[in-house]
Amino acid sequence: MAFPAFLAIVLLQETVFQNEWPTDLAADDAVAITAGADGSMLLFPTIEPNFAANNGVDDSVNNLLSHVGEAPCEAGDLVQFAGAVALSNCPGAPQLEFMAGRPNKTIPAIEGLIPEPSDNVTAILERFADAGNFSPFEVVSLLASHSVARADKVDETIDAAPFDSTPFTFDTQIFLEVLLKGTGFPGTGNNSGEVMSPLPLSSGNDTGEMRLQSDFELARDPRTACFWQGFVNQQELMALSFKVAMAKLAILGHSRADLIDCSDVVPATVRTPVKPASFPATKSARDLELTSGAKETLIPHCTNGGQDCPAVQFDGPA
Ligand code: HEM
Repeated sequence: MAFPAFLAIVLLQETVFQNEWPTDLAADDAVAITAGADGSMLLFPTIEPNFAANNGVDDSVNNLLSHVGEAPCEAGDLVQFAGAVALSNCPGAPQLEFMAGRPNKTIPAIEGLIPEPSDNVTAILERFADAGNFSPFEVVSLLASHSVARADKVDETIDAAPFDSTPFTFDTQIFLEVLLKGTGFPGTGNNSGEVMSPLPLSSGNDTGEMRLQSDFELARDPRTACFWQGFVNQQELMALSFKVAMAKLAILGHSRADLIDCSDVVPATVRTPVKPASFPATKSARDLELTSGAKETLIPHCTNGGQDCPAVQFDGPA
């Protein structure tokens, strides 16, 4: 199948100029798995984008709707393709795989399938495991997307509140900054799914950093904290892990064998070098909140991990 390069260019221009990243739409469409990554978000634009957990995807849906009829592909392909093209605008991002051939969906997804920022870690991990057998490592890998994310709907009093201090670069800064002690809110302080961020200062249109409760908890939970911390300053590991997890997410509900690899039409990612993660001005290692409850390592006495070593023969003449 010849997948049109012109569509990539149109989408690229729209996402660059509007600063909208339909990667969240790609994830939400896929995770609402009644049939997986199926375009149902675009096919039922007055239903699914209104689910509480999809709050904030309406702009991406509106931008893509005009292409549903004109694109020589089904809506499910368009959603995933737009996500891959959008991401190629961000320095540091991997070039995502794009598989084409998803059939259109005939019924909308049901509400309650997309994780909400107020959900606890158990609920989030169970949802991803149920949707596509995602491991805790893969869930953390997918959240690298929040490195290039901004929120409009969590706090409706502020626009485009970034999740880290470098929202246009796909870097590991998010993994560092979510570990810093929170000090305040960029807007109002009683929103569901939001907790205090370390950089809340806003000035005019420059909105301070917003922290999702779900990111905060995933960064500190014993099941995910090591993966979260492990991505800090590991740009290549983070980008590759994201690419692999996205490839799995993008074909949820479909058999890989039924799809055609059209990755060649995904534009190469911009080549601006990415700086290493660094403490934002006024912050230092003293502000880090590393996993609470971690205990000093106890070194086992025996090779079987226990304190009594059954294989060692102490009785005898020697
Ligand atoms: C634990 C699961 C997740 C939760 C609770 C969550 C929650 C959120 C929330 C509340 C927003 C802000 C929406 C708004 O107010 O405009 C957001 C934005 C975003 N999320 Fe997630 N998310 C999750 C997983 C993901 C995944 C798996 C991806 C992609 C692979 C993703 C990509 C994005 C992107 C790109 C944005 C920014 C959208 C924009 O700038 O318009 N998220 N997320």
